[in-house]
Amino acid sequence: MFPPKLATATLFPLTLGLIAHFTIAQATLFIDSEHLPQAKQYDYIVVGAGPGGSVVASRLSQDPNINVLLLEAGPSDEGLLDIQVPYLAFDLEPNTVYDWNYTTTSQPGLGGRNILYPRGRVLGGSTSINLMVWTRSSRDDFDRYAMVSGDDGWSWNAIEPYYRKIEHVVPPVDHHNTTDEIDIGIHGTRGPVNITTANAPYPIDPHVNATSQELGNQYPYNRDMNSGNPLGIGWTQGTYGNGVRSSASSSYIHPFTSRPNLDVLVNATVTRVLRTGHDVETGLPIFSGVEVAQSKTSSVFAINAIKEVILSAGAINTPQLLLLSGIGSSSPLAALGINQTVDLPAVGQRLVDHLVVANQFAMAAPEDDLFEAIRRNETLFNELLVEWERNKQGVMTNGPANHIGWLRVPEDEQGWKEGEDPSSGPTSPHYEFLFAPGFASTVAGTPVPPTGYFMTIFTVLVSPSSSGSVTLASSSPFDPPIIDPAFLNTTFDTQVMRAAIRSAARFVSAHAWDGFVTGQAASFADVNLNSDEQVDAWVRSQASTIWHPTGTASMGRCEDKDSVVDPDLRVRGTKGLRVVDASVLPFIPAAHPQAVVYAFAERAADLIKLGRHLC
Ligand SMILES: Cc1cc2nc3c(=O)[nH]c(=O)nc-3n(C[C@H](O)[C@H](O)[C@H](O)COP(=O)(O)OP(=O)(O)OC[C@H]3O[C@@H](n4cnc5c(N)ncnc54)[C@H](O)[C@@H]3O)c2cc1C
Ligand SMILES: *[C@@H]1O[C@H](CO)[C@@H](O)[C@H](O)[C@H]1NC(C)=O
Ligand SMILES: *[C@@H]1O[C@H](CO)[C@@H](O)[C@H](O)[C@H]1NC(C)=O
Ligand SMILES: *[C@@H]1O[C@H](CO)[C@@H](O)[C@H](O)[C@H]1NC(C)=O
Ligand SMILES: *[C@@H]1O[C@H](CO)[C@@H](O)[C@H](O)[C@H]1NC(C)=O
Ligand SMILES: *[C@@H]1O[C@H](CO)[C@@H](O)[C@H](O)[C@H]1NC(C)=O
Ligand SMILES: *[C@@H]1O[C@H](CO)[C@@H](O)[C@H](O)[C@H]1NC(C)=O
Ligand SMILES: *[C@@H]1O[C@H](CO)[C@@H](O)[C@H](O)[C@H]1NC(C)=O
Ligand SMILES: *[C@@H]1O[C@H](CO)[C@@H](O)[C@H](O)[C@H]1NC(C)=O
Repeated sequence: MFPPKLATATLFPLTLGLIAHFTIAQATLFIDSEHLPQAKQYDYIVVGAGPGGSVVASRLSQDPNINVLLLEAGPSDEGLLDIQVPYLAFDLEPNTVYDWNYTTTSQPGLGGRNILYPRGRVLGGSTSINLMVWTRSSRDDFDRYAMVSGDDGWSWNAIEPYYRKIEHVVPPVDHHNTTDEIDIGIHGTRGPVNITTANAPYPIDPHVNATSQELGNQYPYNRDMNSGNPLGIGWTQGTYGNGVRSSASSSYIHPFTSRPNLDVLVNATVTRVLRTGHDVETGLPIFSGVEVAQSKTSSVFAINAIKEVILSAGAINTPQLLLLSGIGSSSPLAALGINQTVDLPAVGQRLVDHLVVANQFAMAAPEDDLFEAIRRNETLFNELLVEWERNKQGVMTNGPANHIGWLRVPEDEQGWKEGEDPSSGPTSPHYEFLFAPGFASTVAGTPVPPTGYFMTIFTVLVSPSSSGSVTLASSSPFDPPIIDPAFLNTTFDTQVMRAAIRSAARFVSAHAWDGFVTGQAASFADVNLNSDEQVDAWVRSQASTIWHPTGTASMGRCEDKDSVVDPDLRVRGTKGLRVVDASVLPFIPAAHPQAVVYAFAERAADLIKLGRHLC
């Protein structure tokens, strides 16, 4: 909708003579590799500017003696209205200039459908296009990370201070009293990422809140779900402040582009990591170089780091890059004509993602359906956008859902056998609710009904047991990899989704919704919730990704050959190569994962600075 453009303030073409001299010291955002300072040597090269890469590049360049180069395949995010306005987040994908435009393989668990698989391709990575929900995940999730890595530094107690370091809680734009909505005492108030609870009320908010009072034993009210115990119904915290999105680039990169030792190059696709030598002491191959191309048709060039290359290309592109570099399992690489450089069969395995279904309900009164009021009235939409541009007020300052629920399937409803529950412990939910004031669908291309009033409860499978893989389709870095999340491959996953949808219907059958919700709506109206077959068929026909892939370069104990990185996040069997992004998470967090990735990256930056070798 709005073409990408670069703010000229941070970018001077070298042809401007006099200014060019100034540029080398000051301007550090480059769109063309030819403008990179030729004589400069980089200590660290970071690949990908999502939360993993942006945090690491930003923290490492705090030391003025360390030169850092951050490479991003996509364009800059500067000055783009649709990235800044929280309410416009849904317009950023799929198939936009900020998206890698991926599609999964045919998913047997979803009736054979191929699902669109958006990933951010812009400075800030997926945090520039995501829905901004800020959830730190559960105490048990982190304690499991500590257990499977043998490193207590990944436990909840050790990571919690990093969350405070990242966060800056700012008041909502309408300055309402948030005492009952967030416990500011457990949050950070000076970090780079702005966090706010709902900026503007949604019409369904009071009903959601009243239901948690009416059915408190099933849906307890949780004042702050970021305490380590997320269970219950509460207010969403989002990565925006003063009505503007906070992304990994707006929080960790743009404020620091004046650092002469931090260079950022956009339009730079890394095509592989390069072996640059052999470590005499350990005999390990050193991978401290990268091969880069500006586009599919341009020539490639190589850059070497003095110290390390850090891969932060995300859970799809990081395993793709490792495999393209010959780091993986030998026979599939050989089949594509790629010489194996390191035998690491776990690369690309254990892809785990969250599945979501949009369940629509009919509302009696037009004023309860905000999405339709805005969609069906261009005058109103334009007025709200002007209100955002002038005063940073109103609905455009809000994310998609003011309330979230994190829930476990009650024990008497659990159909699974002992040992089959993959959730990390009693503080981890099995499923999630997101409450949206209007019609939404999880099937791409579903037309929005021209009449009628709706609300949607998204049900999300947040502790899935299915896992799939990312593999190469060819040896070309410009061919999309093969993405198979293997959704709903287990009966556990099917049972939880079924229970979650029935629970959503139970939620709106509380008296708090009397006279407001009139029943199931749209094609969901045809689903008989008493029938397992019908609920399962609804899920197969509707479910999609909620964009949370993890685990494809997973972390394990020092001696664990079935993982890709060690507890310091170094790639096994290599020197000079690390991974810092969502791929290292050995289990998917039962949460929206951006906060977890920011926290892993903050600690990773410390580990790199310390030069720690746990193994
Ligand atoms: C549409 C959408 C909505 C989401 N909503 C939420 C939400 O509300 N809350 C939440 O917590 N999480 C959300 N997420 C997930 C969250 O944004 C991700 O988990 C998180 O951004 C992952 O961080 P990352 O650093 O691993 O990867 P990414 O953020 O994906 O960043 C990877 C970066 O690397 C770049 N890159 C990839 N390959 C190369 C290459 N070869 N060379 C150079 N650069 C490369 C990419 O262009 C990208 O900029 C959402 C994600 C999406 C896509
Ligand atoms: C380079 O980046 C700019 C802005 O970030 C973008 O508009 C342009 O399309 C990119 N060019 C290529 C070749 O990717
Ligand atoms: C994704 O699709 C959009 C719309 O067609 C296009 O502009 C963009 O360049 C595509 N992205 C990639 C990485 O091909
Ligand atoms: C905000 O709300 C809390 C709890 O309802 C109340 O105790 C407090 O006095 C309120 N603060 C202000 C400034 O009104
Ligand atoms: C929501 O409910 C909780 C208790 O169930 C109450 O403390 C809180 O004040 C309510 N908030 C609003 C905005 O209604
Ligand atoms: C966060 O909010 C502050 C004001 O409270 C603002 O100065 C800053 O630019 C914001 N940061 C981001 C990353 O948007
Ligand atoms: C693979 O290794 C062989 C033997 O060293 C070499 O001849 C060949 O060029 C390599 N192939 C690629 C694609 O690098
Ligand atoms: C559309 O919105 C405008 C501005 O808020 C309002 O005046 C008008 O009545 C709305 N039209 C309809 C049909 O609701
Ligand atoms: C799970 O995946 C395997 C491997 O692709 C497949 O053989 C099996 O049929 C799947 N099971 C279900 C229940 O989808």
